[in-house]
Amino acid sequence: MDLLPDKTIVIELKNWFTTFVGTFNHQGEEFRKNIEIKREHTERVTGEIINIGKELGLNENELNLAEIIALLHDVGRFEQYTTYGTFSDQKSENHAELGLKIIKEQNILHALHPDIRDLVFCSVRYHNRSSLPADETERCLYWSRLIRDADKLDIWRVVTDYYHRGKAERNVALELELPDTPGFSAEVTAALMNRQIVNMKHVRNINDIKLLQAGWVYDINYPPTFIQIKKRRYMDLLKEVLPDTDETKKIFDVIDSFIQRIS
Ligand SMILES: [Fe+2]
Repeated sequence: MDLLPDKTIVIELKNWFTTFVGTFNHQGEEFRKNIEIKREHTERVTGEIINIGKELGLNENELNLAEIIALLHDVGRFEQYTTYGTFSDQKSENHAELGLKIIKEQNILHALHPDIRDLVFCSVRYHNRSSLPADETERCLYWSRLIRDADKLDIWRVVTDYYHRGKAERNVALELELPDTPGFSAEVTAALMNRQIVNMKHVRNINDIKLLQAGWVYDINYPPTFIQIKKRRYMDLLKEVLPDTDETKKIFDVIDSFIQRIS
């Protein structure tokens, strides 16, 4: 499709992004660290989406579109953290909608064909939904699935690194300000045993959020993503930082057999 973006537009948007993030340089060390976490996350998600896209056989211009979506998917995070001091959408507002507002207000996608612009809007809008709506076009859902897979691959990396680093470098923003209490919620366990994603409303402590993150395997769309999950041992890394109980073992047995069957 010749309406797709060329590399020039990608470069322009990357420059815009760098300048945009550079405006969030005020306040203290913790603030700057969390802004940097999201800048680096965005950079790596562009790499992830390109890798998945290549495995899926996307052409050069389709990969450009993928890169633009990844570059902009979390643009709302910077304002969210500046305004509310949190990455929790529950405690602030939906960062995807916030991002869309910025993209539209600043009119940064003016050079894109309107149909392609709509694909960027819909993928950014849906990147963090617990599930995708049924009443959207297949094209919109295709690109939304792609950013959701790429995003999860990097969030797993960020959080497994963090959980394994120990408590010396605690970052409450990455813990979504949840308490570090023992045990997990029954609803969380039940969802995972049924091979379902965990609803955020049942998440009460750090163990629950770790399990919710493990449960994202039930929301992965493309085979190359499963291959990376296995290769990087994300599920083992999450299991290792959860209480060593029969319940944990059962949950991860179900997850492991799911991944084996799919990939
Ligand atoms: Fe996001």
